[in-house]
Amino acid sequence: MDTVLSGIRSTGNLHLGNYYGALRNFIRMQHENNCFFFIADYHSLTTQPDPKTLHENVKEVLCEYLAAGIDPNIATIYVQSDVKEVIELYLMLNMHAYMGELAKTTSFKEKARKQPENVNAGLLTYPTLMAADILLHNADKVPVGKDQEQHLEMTRRFARRFNNFYGVDFFKEPQAYNYGHELIKIPGLDGSGKMGKSEGNCVYLCDEPKVIEKKMMKALTDSGPTEMNSVKPEYIENLFTILKVVSTPDTYDYFNEEWNKCEIRYGDLKKQLAADVIKVTTPIRERYNEISNDKAYLHKVVTEGAEKARASALKTIVPVREIMGFKPF
Ligand code: TRP
Repeated sequence: MDTVLSGIRSTGNLHLGNYYGALRNFIRMQHENNCFFFIADYHSLTTQPDPKTLHENVKEVLCEYLAAGIDPNIATIYVQSDVKEVIELYLMLNMHAYMGELAKTTSFKEKARKQPENVNAGLLTYPTLMAADILLHNADKVPVGKDQEQHLEMTRRFARRFNNFYGVDFFKEPQAYNYGHELIKIPGLDGSGKMGKSEGNCVYLCDEPKVIEKKMMKALTDSGPTEMNSVKPEYIENLFTILKVVSTPDTYDYFNEEWNKCEIRYGDLKKQLAADVIKVTTPIRERYNEISNDKAYLHKVVTEGAEKARASALKTIVPVREIMGFKPF
């Protein structure tokens, strides 16, 4: 069984795009692999350290992942800062990471441009911390989006370099997790491409039904098709894309027919979309509200998660100390 590790940014508010993209794959993945999911709270310090929101942000994502179906009895879910061994590995890897290669990283250059007043060393060494997250469990696979591929490539390079430098065959070179099918991309409600937080075109998993209805009703449409069987403009196609994932095939076919016959009523389509999105999100929202108020449960989940993650981390960090020449007196 492969060890699969995934780091989660501690900025909560997951939307439909996150759900049908990565999250549902994570839920599936946990049954077939030895999965570690952790919330990357140390990483969040590289941009905007804020003691007032740090804990809330972590809690929010944690609850969302649990509510959506990550099962702490099957996978290991933990908070990065609960497993201090990662800091030690981060320090060690930093001794073999070079200024030049770190400064050349796309994400670093981008962040340095965005926050010129705060180009800190943590930002520079973001890839070594990420490598430490992954190598800490000697993970075989890491599900990553396009924006993280370079970091994974650097992780492999750090692993190789460590093995070569110390003349060992210790770290594996982690590969990208392949879902085996195309990721579903959920479009935004504003006719633009992707649903995204910064685009402001999202339906959030924890949105109240009334909010979802309102957002759906505001989705961009037009005065309707004038020719039978015409090609849908992108903003209409987008609504059908969402319909396809949240509704039944019959419902999809019905509205598609209506479109082809130029008889489509967008009001009905939007009502249907809202109803079906609400059907998908309601169990998640209800479970979220339940667990986010259950302090004892959350405490148990993170404590047990940290224990499991630490046991795995020690299997790496103890031999690494030895390989590097640290010895007890
Ligand atoms: N950098 C990742 C992101 O921004 C989050 C992350 C941190 C991560 N450590 C990781 C992802 C380790 C995978 C493995 O999304």
